[in-house]
Amino acid sequence: MDIDQLQQTLADLEAETTAKIAGITAIDELRHVESQTTGKSGTLGQMLGTIKDYPADQRGQVGKILNQAKGKLTGIFKQAGDRIRQAETSAEASKASTFDPTLPGVRPPLGTAHPVTLVQWQVEDVFQRLGFMIETGPEMETEYYNFEALNIPALHPARDMQDTFWMTNNMLLRTHTSPVQVRAMERHGPPLRVIAPGRCFRYETIDASHENTFHQVEGLMIDKNISIANLIAMMRLLLREVFGRDVKARLRPGYFPFVEPGFELDMSCLICDGKGCPTCKHTGWIEILPCGMVHPNVLRYGKIDPHEYTGFAFGLGLTRLAMMKYGIGDIRVLTGGDLRAIVPTPRLTGPTIKPESAGAAC
Ligand code: PHE
Repeated sequence: MDIDQLQQTLADLEAETTAKIAGITAIDELRHVESQTTGKSGTLGQMLGTIKDYPADQRGQVGKILNQAKGKLTGIFKQAGDRIRQAETSAEASKASTFDPTLPGVRPPLGTAHPVTLVQWQVEDVFQRLGFMIETGPEMETEYYNFEALNIPALHPARDMQDTFWMTNNMLLRTHTSPVQVRAMERHGPPLRVIAPGRCFRYETIDASHENTFHQVEGLMIDKNISIANLIAMMRLLLREVFGRDVKARLRPGYFPFVEPGFELDMSCLICDGKGCPTCKHTGWIEILPCGMVHPNVLRYGKIDPHEYTGFAFGLGLTRLAMMKYGIGDIRVLTGGDLRAIVPTPRLTGPTIKPESAGAAC
């Protein structure tokens, strides 16, 4: 190619290159185009290799023209590089201006202990102050402790009231915490003050107030001369401590084979203030505390002489107590895995219980 053609080609290359890199915004891409243009095997690099093909008297001039072109192209690439780097820096700066490291972070909602656990701790606290021990028993029980030793022999109709889940090894998921009564009598002997909180299971049809898994606290006090008066006093104290005020309560006869006499202690429904709602089956009352004087047969099963000792027992529905205390109208809120039940929210754990001076009826 003669010198004129060479100059034209170089002018074209310059224009082409300028156009090509105008839209480039990444440094890597620019470097790639640069090596294709001015690099050793790039367009210009190859042209430099052709100097030797020109007649000797033109080589000096050709070399000069090519070097000038290389200088120009190098300048163009440098300019583009500066432009890209500048854009990157200002993008980072504007990003930085919206980030304020002094702002407080986003706080993840912190959970609390489950409402049933909170009530359990409170009940434990009340009874520990009254000198009660805390016992636990197995959730998978023998038929003997769950029924037999509680004066519910095989074929007794009371077994039907507490149908449960049976294991293939003939054991069962305990239907109440009462088995711990006899276990505690065997272990400690009289006199005895013990509570046993824990999980129980029943084959239930689930509704607003029934679940197949729930919590109870069993209570047992055995000594000489324990009477129904002690039982009533203790139950009233418990409700007053848990609710922080006197709660309206009533005592009515209730049948449980392991107590005689047996009672049902009901408290006025705090969800509806005794007016009637699905939680209290529209009666205004919630069965919360079945109780009674320990049946002599049960004392005998626990190796305690019923002529020497008497006692009372109760089975507090912890799950129901939690519902009343925190104004939770449906038991499934507590067992359904809804995180609002353990993350404090005004709706579920706010002070829903209005102070009122309802005197206890029993
Ligand atoms: N274990 C009984 C139940 O779950 C409750 C109960 C306990 C009743 C102690 C009387 C005395 O139904």
